[in-house]
Amino acid sequence: MLFSVRFRTAFPRLVTNIRCLYTSAERRSSGGTLFVHRDTPENNPNTPFDFTPENYKRIDGIVNNYPEGHKSSAVIPVLDLAQRQHGWLPISAMNKIAEILQMPPMRVYEVATFYTMFNRKPVGKYHIQICTTTPCMLQDSDSILEAILKKLGIKVGETTSDKLFTVTEVECLGACVNAPMVQINDNYYEDLTTKDIENIIDELKAGNIPKPGPRSGRFSCEPSGGLTSLTQPPKGPGFGVRSDL
Ligand code: FES
Repeated sequence: MLFSVRFRTAFPRLVTNIRCLYTSAERRSSGGTLFVHRDTPENNPNTPFDFTPENYKRIDGIVNNYPEGHKSSAVIPVLDLAQRQHGWLPISAMNKIAEILQMPPMRVYEVATFYTMFNRKPVGKYHIQICTTTPCMLQDSDSILEAILKKLGIKVGETTSDKLFTVTEVECLGACVNAPMVQINDNYYEDLTTKDIENIIDELKAGNIPKPGPRSGRFSCEPSGGLTSLTQPPKGPGFGVRSDL
C-alpha cells in the first residue's frame, strides 16, 4: 500500500489505469467478531465455566486418542465439546481447556480465533451459516442471504431479539456441488432457492427440524441430469488383464 501511494505520487500519469489492489475486507472472523478478545460483562476470565462430569469423561476419551505427551492435540474436539455444552465459547472456557490440556492459553486462543466454527460470542438457538464463496456466489447465494436477512429482519452477524436465529457469512463449507447452501447448527441445507430457505426458517420457528440435504430432489451430490458414469455394475477383478497372465 505504501509502495502504491509513493508510486502514484511519483508517476501520476502512469498510474491512472491501475486498479486498487488492496480491496480485501477488514480481517475478522466468526461473522464479524474481532480476532482479538475484549472483556465484556458476559465474556471475561471470570465468566463461570466448567465441564460437566460427563464431559470430563468424554475429554478423557478424546485425550486417550493421542500419544502420551501430546494432550494439546485434543484442543479442537475439546473446544467443540465446550461450545456444545455452553452454546458458545467464552474466554473462561478456553482458559479451562488450556489448564486441562496443559498448554499455554495463547495456543488455545490461536485455534479458537482461527476457525469460524468456534463462536466467541453468544449465538441464537439456530445458527445459520451461509456460504458466499465463489461456487455458491455463482449459484446466487446473494439472493439466499438477502432472503434470510429480510425474513429475520437482522444483519449479518446479528441475532434476532427472540434469540432464535443468528446469521453468519462464512467461507466454503465443502458442499460446493450443492450450491447454494447453508449450514444450520449441524445440518446442511443444499440446492436452495429463496422459497426453500424461507420454508426452512418457518419450520424452525414452528419448532421442527427440517430434513437436511438437497432441496432439488436429487440424491446427495449426484448429477442433476442423472448419472453419466458408473451406470452399470463394476466389472469383477481381473477385468482387462491379459488372459495369459
Ligand atoms: S463454495 Fe459454498 S460450499 Fe463451497
